[in-house]
Amino acid sequence: MKPETLAAQALHAIDRLTGDIVPSIPMSTTYLRDDQYETIGGVYARDENRIFGTVERVLAALEGGTGALVFASGMAAATAAIRSLVKPGDHIVTARVGYFAIRNWIERFGATWGVAVDVVDTTDLESVRAALRPNQTKLVWFETPANPTWDVTDIAAICEMAHARGARVAIDSTCATPVHTRPIALGADLVMHSATKYLGGHSDVLAGALVTARDDDAWAAIKQTRHDEGAVLGPVEAWLLLRGMRTLYARVERQSRTALALAQRLESLCDVIYPGLATHPQHELAARQMAGGFGGMLSIRTGDGAARALSVVKRLRLWLPATSLGGVESLVEHRATVEGPNSPTPPDLLRLSVGLEHEDDLFDDLAGALR
Ligand SMILES: Cc1ncc(COP(=O)(O)O)c(C=O)c1O
Repeated sequence: MKPETLAAQALHAIDRLTGDIVPSIPMSTTYLRDDQYETIGGVYARDENRIFGTVERVLAALEGGTGALVFASGMAAATAAIRSLVKPGDHIVTARVGYFAIRNWIERFGATWGVAVDVVDTTDLESVRAALRPNQTKLVWFETPANPTWDVTDIAAICEMAHARGARVAIDSTCATPVHTRPIALGADLVMHSATKYLGGHSDVLAGALVTARDDDAWAAIKQTRHDEGAVLGPVEAWLLLRGMRTLYARVERQSRTALALAQRLESLCDVIYPGLATHPQHELAARQMAGGFGGMLSIRTGDGAARALSVVKRLRLWLPATSLGGVESLVEHRATVEGPNSPTPPDLLRLSVGLEHEDDLFDDLAGALR
């Protein structure tokens, strides 16, 4: 069946005993044993809650993976994966452009634990090739399209060169979502999501997830990390995430269509960065690698530094000035302010997360503010 069908029915998650079409929220933290002292529903709910299992099976199916794990946040998922896959003496190659908190964490983690880290431009395949160290590089980690300039990295090409040198490839696919990119089909070993964004989709649940291409030793190590460290979702959050995922395709397809239309209309008013525009440096790759659209995220350059960008934000009425992305309400963010003094983000850049409002209303608000 098509992923839209799998998502809408949450893999047919109905309860045959009760007739519930929507799963209930399992609140129990512990499970009864039978008179043989055998377990019935599990042992203990730190990482054995059946609502997790439902969310994980749906997400693994949407990403084409063999398994998934949910975490308390995207950061919890990313850090659990990286800490499970590398040890002192190993080497990580990661991207210059991407969610700044993960990049900064990888650098701090490497410095503390004796893991060498190279931060490169992953859109330049030769830079990645030169950075890979045979037998030492264990992980290549990048996001595509990457915050906030939407650099698109060639997943298949990097997987080929990393695998040839014995390194795994993990992709932060938060902004692409399985609607537009399925990294495992392109060779990725691991996919990570801040499920706080499009998977949840309503700015009301903090969650993270990992999806694996194989049920191997690396995946067992990640599972053990989650079990030991317990950075799991609460059952209510897992239920909200499942509910959000059921409408993922309808939301993201619409958000992508609106984002493309806005990108095209805004081009006459300012510089626009969006992988769906022919002017984007990796547009051809994006068209090849992404299916059915280019995502709901774009950035604009207002010119004249941070002061002009912030004055545009102040004049907006509909776009809400707030961090995060992927919800039903459109958000605008001055990333350089949020990322702080060492931010590589241009000071005149505004990041736009397109929601489900009408394209004309979103455009009129921006056009008025840019005037
Ligand atoms: C692309 C991307 N990856 C990871 C994260 C971290 O996820 P979380 O905030 O759920 O911990 C974020 C959060 O903004 C993000 O935008």
